[in-house]
Amino acid sequence: MESILVSGGAGYIGSHTVKTLLEQSYKPVVLDNLVTGHRQSVPRDVPFYQGDIADSRLVRKVVEQERISAVIHFAARSLVGESAEKPDLYFEENTAKTNRFVSSLLEAGVKRIIFSSTAATYGIPEEVPIPESAPTTPINPYGFSKLMIEQSFSWLEKAYGLEWIALRYFNAAGAALDSSLGEDHFPETHLIPLILKTALGQRETISIFGTDYSTPDGTCIRDYIHVLDLAKAHILALEALGKGIGSGVYNVGTGSGYSVREVIETARLVTGRGIPVLESPRRPGDPDILVAKVEKIQHSLGWTPQYSSLEQIIKSAWAWHLGHPNGFE
Ligand SMILES: NC(=O)c1ccc[n+]([C@@H]2O[C@H](COP(=O)([O-])OP(=O)(O)OC[C@H]3O[C@@H](n4cnc5c(N)ncnc54)[C@H](O)[C@@H]3O)[C@@H](O)[C@H]2O)c1
Repeated sequence: MESILVSGGAGYIGSHTVKTLLEQSYKPVVLDNLVTGHRQSVPRDVPFYQGDIADSRLVRKVVEQERISAVIHFAARSLVGESAEKPDLYFEENTAKTNRFVSSLLEAGVKRIIFSSTAATYGIPEEVPIPESAPTTPINPYGFSKLMIEQSFSWLEKAYGLEWIALRYFNAAGAALDSSLGEDHFPETHLIPLILKTALGQRETISIFGTDYSTPDGTCIRDYIHVLDLAKAHILALEALGKGIGSGVYNVGTGSGYSVREVIETARLVTGRGIPVLESPRRPGDPDILVAKVEKIQHSLGWTPQYSSLEQIIKSAWAWHLGHPNGFE
């Protein structure tokens, strides 16, 4: 069984990936400082190291002790608004710490890494669907902190033979089909959990920020990807690297998008509950449409989304929220 180190494995996407790795007969090992993650989201029989990715001694120890052959690196801060207020925190937590993490991995002999990047590396796109070759001009420090990592990886590849794939996720959503795992961020900033918290009566309204965008119903359109499809993309990327596909950047999305109003309407149908809406002004920096061009990952990694219809995403997320109205607590 191949041992895969999952940094941030107690987080939302990380914990679903740990579950998928187990189902596919890998041995996941989690390194997480629990700054935003939940210990309860990692099964007790999965080796769990509570610590920081920047702790070189710990990273080298884990690699040696657990015979790690590759890494899936989720650990990061990912609040766009917070990154605008504290850019230095994001450059430290995301960029600088990842650099230290990768140095420790290379010293310990691990060269294969799958990295959580983001559509925020593109900024305001000139063309939609957005191809991987589009210009990368992030409009917030979060996106920039991730872009710097992608760029640094090219140099580490030349110098030390790092083999890397950066997956630029669009909007991760949904929950495990058995409702054992789901999305529990604090603070929550993502649309679907916020809508479902409104359906549960934990919030009075769901805000729509801007109703005058250049889209058919005036609200922003985003590309939603089921967290299980996302988890699968990491494993395919890992296997492709192992077979020598070469390093690079891949979008992970479905290639089509839904407007905020469509997401709310689907949530009303799935939950059977009224979801009051508050129409609010636009927020700065929200592009009209963000949808991924997905031919590259489909052709090169053989990845196709299985669970990412909007209805399936919301159904699985709703089952999780109903069963865990207060998250993992
Ligand atoms: N959720 C999305 O839609 C989305 C979209 C694009 C990219 N991403 C990226 O995917 C990754 C996972 O996102 P998520 O939504 O699961 O976030 P999350 O906050 O749920 O998970 C992050 C995990 O990393 C851990 N962590 C953070 N800093 C750490 C450090 N220095 N050392 C050790 N552990 C640390 C946290 O405790 C947490 O368990 C992040 O890198 C994020 O930027 C997420």
